[in-house]
Amino acid sequence: MDNDEFAIKVSGLKKAYKEKDVLKGVTFQVQKGSIFCLLGSNGAGKTTMVKILATLLRMDSGMALIEGQDVKKDGAKVRKRISLTGQFAAVDEILTGRENLEMAARLCHLKDYKMQADKLLRDFHLEDAADKRTAAYSGGMRRRLDIAMSLLGNPSVIFLDEPTTGLDPQSRNAMWNIIEELKESGVTIFLTTQYLEEAEELADQVAILHEGVIIANGTVEEIKKLSSTEYVIFTFNHHESMRKMIKMFVKEISGINEDDQTVSIEIKGGMKQITNIFTTMDQYGIISSSFTQKKATLEDVFLNLVDGAKENRYE
Ligand SMILES: Nc1ncnc2c1ncn2[C@@H]1O[C@H](COP(=O)(O)OP(=O)(O)O)[C@@H](O)[C@H]1O
Ligand SMILES: [Mg+2]
Repeated sequence: MDNDEFAIKVSGLKKAYKEKDVLKGVTFQVQKGSIFCLLGSNGAGKTTMVKILATLLRMDSGMALIEGQDVKKDGAKVRKRISLTGQFAAVDEILTGRENLEMAARLCHLKDYKMQADKLLRDFHLEDAADKRTAAYSGGMRRRLDIAMSLLGNPSVIFLDEPTTGLDPQSRNAMWNIIEELKESGVTIFLTTQYLEEAEELADQVAILHEGVIIANGTVEEIKKLSSTEYVIFTFNHHESMRKMIKMFVKEISGINEDDQTVSIEIKGGMKQITNIFTTMDQYGIISSSFTQKKATLEDVFLNLVDGAKENRYE
């Protein structure tokens, strides 16, 4: 047995397609029983990473262990421990949900395949639609069935590649609940997403993949702290005051909303900057009706980090 606290260890992993370097030395570790979220924009290399870890694609160099098993050398052992569901559900449309599950269970040589199928239909809230052909299922239902099928082999590490991309908000919420229930069953979940909101909602640990490397890695809270972005948002009743405000703070303003009559200012200089703003407003007779302070969301941090990475490249 392997008593390591990490379910996944990746170090210095590189992968190029022909001339195109996609992963340029990726390193991270995932704690057992946690939800790890690999966050990156479209084309960042998330699917490439997942495919390598799931032994569907070979890395060029580096190392990856899944529950202590070497992805390069012990592919068969790795495959026994994992499941992978991709963005496009692999269910047979001619069959009903129940038939899909029973067939997959029989392929796994499960004797009690009927019971297993029943249980998964219940767990994945597909009982009502169990005997309908999956051709009639919604995208969310198909994706749930796909994940249910992938669990029949009893994996302890589950890869979900963009499980909510293309789903409507209701199906997305249902998927989030299922992912949380999966975690409660003790498995490790490796999730990829383009949505910061999803990482914020689910992840114990987030790693941001950008231009082939991990540019930030930690809990959502830790990542938010990386960039101490804070805003003060002023609301104006009088257009004239708002106009003066914009003129005076043109360099510091990060957002203007004409409809709500608000102006946001990014606070980088702590209390000194805040005091200065109020003093200047007082001096120039700029009157705001209210102001609020706002902490950065993961989205703000992501944009900051990505911008930072761009700037560094050209230095
Ligand atoms: N088989 C392939 N051959 C050549 N380029 C590929 C191949 N698969 C993916 N790519 C390219 O590698 C980059 C990363 O792709 P991918 O891992 O699918 O990103 P993501 O899943 O984050 O959207 C993209 O620029 C994509 O076009
Ligand atoms: Mg992808």
